[in-house]
Amino acid sequence: METPGLKSNVTMDEITALAKRRGFIFQSSEIYGGIGGFYDYGPLGAILKRNVKDAWWRENVELRDDVVGFDSSIIMHPLTWKASGHIDQFHDQMIDCKVCKHRFRSDHLKDATQCPDCGSKNSFTEPRNFNLMLKTFVGPMEDTASEAYLRPETAQGIFVNFKNVFQSARKKPPFGIAQIGKSFRNEITPGNFTYRLREFEQAELEYFVPDDGKDMDAFREWVDRRKKWYSDYGVKSDRLRFYELTQAERPHYAKAGIDVEYLFPWGWGELESIAHRGTYDLDAHMELSKKDLRFFDEASKTHYTPLLIESSAGMDRTTLTMLIDAFEREISVDPNGKQTERIVLRFHPKIAPVQVAVFSLARNKPELVERARAIESGLRPSYRTQYDEGNIGQLYRRQDEIGTPICLTVDYETLDDRAVTVRERDTMRQERIEIDRLDTYLRDRLRG
Ligand code: GAP
Repeated sequence: METPGLKSNVTMDEITALAKRRGFIFQSSEIYGGIGGFYDYGPLGAILKRNVKDAWWRENVELRDDVVGFDSSIIMHPLTWKASGHIDQFHDQMIDCKVCKHRFRSDHLKDATQCPDCGSKNSFTEPRNFNLMLKTFVGPMEDTASEAYLRPETAQGIFVNFKNVFQSARKKPPFGIAQIGKSFRNEITPGNFTYRLREFEQAELEYFVPDDGKDMDAFREWVDRRKKWYSDYGVKSDRLRFYELTQAERPHYAKAGIDVEYLFPWGWGELESIAHRGTYDLDAHMELSKKDLRFFDEASKTHYTPLLIESSAGMDRTTLTMLIDAFEREISVDPNGKQTERIVLRFHPKIAPVQVAVFSLARNKPELVERARAIESGLRPSYRTQYDEGNIGQLYRRQDEIGTPICLTVDYETLDDRAVTVRERDTMRQERIEIDRLDTYLRDRLRG
């Protein structure tokens, strides 16, 4: 759905090209022609994604005393997926065009009578149900009894361990369990770069609350916290919306649901879902496993099943959002009237893959190179740094394109005044800063 007047300032082709050129994201197994729905993170992308995950973990686990971290296995007992409903309900309707042989999700088609790719009329096969879970075999036999699934969401690992975690952590609701991990969905139509993948990472927070009438307050508090998180990391507020699902759009057991959506170049797309899931998940596992997962409240000496507020964010989608949201194109005209374009990624300093680039003005002057390398290695324990040398205009251009907030240049003057030229990405301001004052200067700007 388009929003009048509001458009993304970049195309997916530009993002894909930049991501490859600068080493953020590559197509998986590209030398063999690639494989649909799988991508690899290059040197800068791996750091960017890790920073996004760390920022989520820091805010939702480390800075809270009511949430603990968790890490469950990708392959779980197959009954897990029976209880969760994934075996019976995790289906998409698949439809093929008999002329061009392209495959679509029937609910994604605007016109069910015409193929959007080749334009053929009434060329579709009957819709077929297709389970989205990826299957594998556990053990040496490839038979039905050895069948297992790669998890399609990380949440179920938390639910089946609910009692283990609560008892070992000695906490009582309200209390949350958080995990970041890989999930797999055999999507019929992966696409839009890393938006819809077959292998992706989720950051899920399952927050359990007592049924004391304050559950909707807890739901709204999590929505506000997540809003703040996106804003703290610089995601533009006019490109983010919190869409409240109607009762008809929510699963029957959910009391409330919000989809966090971002305005991608092709329109609004879901980044995260926040849902009030009641006791649905724990009830389902209790029923199938016949194990009592209820919480025992010492004060009232009663057992009860807590209600669940879930926040589930895709880390690949969030990383892609950070890339798109940071993208800016600036046209400048030099004194001779020549137009130049500068692409800048304005990452928040906390997630920028490189925070400080240190340059030597000349590559063939050992005294400059040594000084610049020494400054860079001195800063490395405290900041994400990179050393480079050569043509200063090209060096700035490269760092702008990867979103580095601060560049330092060691030049001939440095040898006399023990200062470097510091250039800020956002203001383009340049100033001389003494080497001894660098750490204070950088701390102010980068650690926030
Ligand atoms: N446990 C709840 C759950 O999994 P979901 O809405 O299916 O809910 C949560 O998924 C988030 O996981 C989505 O908002 C999205 O960011 C991410 N996600 C889901 N499917 C994805 C896919 N095929 N590729 C990339 N990310 C995906």
